[in-house]
Amino acid sequence: MVREGLTPLNDFLRIDEALVRARDALEAVSESPRLDAELLLARALDVTRSFLIAHADEEIDGAAAKRFAATIDQRVSGMPLAYITGAKEFWSMNLLVTPATLVPRPDTEILVDHALRLIPHETTQHVLDLGTGSGAVALAIAAERPHCELVATDICAKALTVAKENAGRLQLPNIEFVCGDWLEPVQDRQFDVVVSNPPYIAVDDPHFAGLCFEPRLALAAGHDGLDAFRIIAAQAINVLSPAGSILLEHGESQQHAVAEILSSNGWRDIENAEDLGGRPRVTIARM
Ligand SMILES: C[S@@+](CC[C@H](N)C(=O)[O-])C[C@H]1O[C@@H](n2cnc3c(N)ncnc32)[C@H](O)[C@@H]1O
Repeated sequence: MVREGLTPLNDFLRIDEALVRARDALEAVSESPRLDAELLLARALDVTRSFLIAHADEEIDGAAAKRFAATIDQRVSGMPLAYITGAKEFWSMNLLVTPATLVPRPDTEILVDHALRLIPHETTQHVLDLGTGSGAVALAIAAERPHCELVATDICAKALTVAKENAGRLQLPNIEFVCGDWLEPVQDRQFDVVVSNPPYIAVDDPHFAGLCFEPRLALAAGHDGLDAFRIIAAQAINVLSPAGSILLEHGESQQHAVAEILSSNGWRDIENAEDLGGRPRVTIARM
């Protein structure tokens, strides 16, 4: 399908006209075309979204119009808004993201929420976030539980650079970032809570067609999407304290398979947590 972008965009278009044209161009690719258009125009003009409403009848100068049209074209090609703006909101934090990191999903806040329920305020627990990407999960836990010590790992050094930068900007000193393959870099340590949102899509899943801008390393996990769970379930049991817990995000159809993998690796008290739509998305287990 040929998608209509915004170029050529007439110079001296009014703000309200530009937003309508951009919204129409984005309708086929975005669930929030008007919002995307506003965020990209505000960025091109270096103003706030409320400025756009208050100055709807003002004309956009040629240079800003070109910048706006270029980003609308990127979005029309399917590029996630977060890669165009370089930022994504997660747990009320504005996080830097790059093509080396998964764009953090709102669904992953369920994982954070359930991890926090297991970590009382003021405690000094040790928490491990496996496959931290932009750092989203570790940063949220570190912000909510400043007395805890976190270790956040990823096999992708470029992703870890972004995660470290996010921790610096958010002034969260209680996270150590370590590069390596799942539990390998932390096998001599002990944690009270292990969290992970690992890759969980099967390599031949048709969903990949709509995810071509995000790193395959962050998404694909073998022929059935369960490879990362198998490794984590087998290895994490060796680093958990006796009363510790593991929390794993997964696809809504993977609940039973993940429970089975955990159970066969000696985990017990396996329970599931649902998202706001009632879909099973996080599995929690103990030693
Ligand atoms: C689904 S993304 C999750 C990113 C982030 N935690 C989030 O929720 O937005 C999975 C992450 O696991 C990392 N990863 C993939 N294979 C890995 C491995 N063998 N060891 C460690 N991390 C890995 C990827 O680089 C990616 O950042």
